[in-house]
Amino acid sequence: MDPSVAHVPVMLGEALEHLRLEPGKVIVDGTGGAGGHAGALLDRLRPGGRLIVLDRDLEALERLKARIGRPGDVRYFYANFCDLDQVLAQAGEGQIHGVLLDLGVSSLQLADPDRGFSFDRAGRLDMRFDRAAALTAEDVVNRWPAERLAEVFRRYGDQPFARRIAAAIAAARQRRPIRTTDELAEVVTRALPPAHRRRERLHPATRVFQAVRIAVNDELGSLERFFDKVFDCLISPGGRVVVIAFHSGEDRIVKNRLREAVRAGRARLVTAKPLAPTPAEVQANPRSRSARMRVAEALAAAG
Ligand SMILES: C[S@@+](CC[C@H](N)C(=O)[O-])C[C@H]1O[C@@H](n2cnc3c(N)ncnc32)[C@H](O)[C@@H]1O
Repeated sequence: MDPSVAHVPVMLGEALEHLRLEPGKVIVDGTGGAGGHAGALLDRLRPGGRLIVLDRDLEALERLKARIGRPGDVRYFYANFCDLDQVLAQAGEGQIHGVLLDLGVSSLQLADPDRGFSFDRAGRLDMRFDRAAALTAEDVVNRWPAERLAEVFRRYGDQPFARRIAAAIAAARQRRPIRTTDELAEVVTRALPPAHRRRERLHPATRVFQAVRIAVNDELGSLERFFDKVFDCLISPGGRVVVIAFHSGEDRIVKNRLREAVRAGRARLVTAKPLAPTPAEVQANPRSRSARMRVAEALAAAG
């Protein structure tokens, strides 16, 4: 992998502020990634606090361990954040003071051609966060019916030419299977009308790659299952959940599930509207541009 690539944590200052970190607290970083958030969280929990770090990607978790080390106040779990309750039980923790999710893919994963996440790095179509999982991007692209692909592109990629791209993929894979990122990027690019390609600011394959990744990893399903349990896992009152989403479908789930918790009397919204990165952050780190952060706090349990 390209050693010059670094992952810059997004909305770090806002995450630290809204998790209300203090020495002695117990916090979960549900998406450890390259450890940008985790390292900064840990500094503020010391002395006396504990940090529990999860990632579904074993390679990312191993790299993170090498970076942060194995001090007694950090525990690592190769786990999906939708299994938060099981992880806490395994860690011997009760309820926690806060949990952070920074969704999606890290710059390190994107930069590694072997992981197949990026249309501008030639590699096998993989895109699994968890390489022990059965379904790969190659399976989705070559086996799913065109109608299902179109639905994926529309729902997870906000792709206006979803049907057209799905039909182009179905035709291409009849000739021979689409096995690599550059083959898929080429089929997608050719399927788009030239006028659209000229207008669009993003690379033509961006939305399709995002959509396939979300489908391969069932990312929206994990997020829904996380919200089924998060308020049981937080100290009430006062425990906080902070979620940074990069895609409208994700952000919609976060918004709806937090509203539901408010209606059920379980939470209050700390930020009425989602927070966005400052213009200075977007300029320094263009990857942050689509980030939206939502924060809620657990209320006292009824009865
Ligand atoms: C955007 S990166 C996080 C970057 C991290 N906050 C940092 O500052 O370095 C997202 C990470 O979450 C992991 N991930 C995505 N979905 C997950 C899930 N459902 N459960 C656990 N980890 C997940 C990915 O493998 C990736 O490493």
